[in-house]
Amino acid sequence: MDSLYSPLLVLHSWNRWAILIFALFVIVSSVSGLSRKTGYSVFQKKSLFYYILTLHLQLLGGLILYFVLSPVTTMALNDFGAAMKDSTARFWAVEHAFVNVVAVVIAQAGSIITKRKSTDRGKHRSALIWTVISIVLIFAMIPFGMMGVERPWFRF
Ligand code: HEM
Repeated sequence: MDSLYSPLLVLHSWNRWAILIFALFVIVSSVSGLSRKTGYSVFQKKSLFYYILTLHLQLLGGLILYFVLSPVTTMALNDFGAAMKDSTARFWAVEHAFVNVVAVVIAQAGSIITKRKSTDRGKHRSALIWTVISIVLIFAMIPFGMMGVERPWFRF
């Protein structure tokens, strides 16, 4: 089991870039669609699809890390009280996991709402709003150092 930790952490780390890139595609194409009054394109549909797909992958990998493989969260779950007093342990055990799960739920709900919109303008607006809300939450929880926790941008 221990030998799976490192490859899954590498995958989880790289997949963050895929998530950020697909979110950017959705946001830029929705803003462009709204301002140019163009139709909801296949590119936009595919970008939103891959945004949700990479998020689900991240959620699955994150849950496996959280409950099975990560020594950081295993230690935190063994003594939750002590973990709450340590800001790094609390970040991984509570903030990173909880906020990201909420963000994935928001993005998924947003994608369903977007599909149900009957006009192109409605689809652009919905894709834009829900993707911005979810990616802001996700971005804040990426360990870039903003929350006091920093990890490599590119892990090998
Ligand atoms: C959905 C968006 C998410 C993004 C963008 C994201 C991103 C990241 C990044 C960049 C790392 C650091 C990887 C490294 O050290 O190189 C990480 C670690 C981790 N993430 Fe996530 N994550 C997400 C969701 C989740 C979820 C939903 C969970 C749990 C339910 C989770 C649990 C973890 C755990 C346990 C670690 C490793 C802590 C350790 O052992 O050092 N992640 N995540």
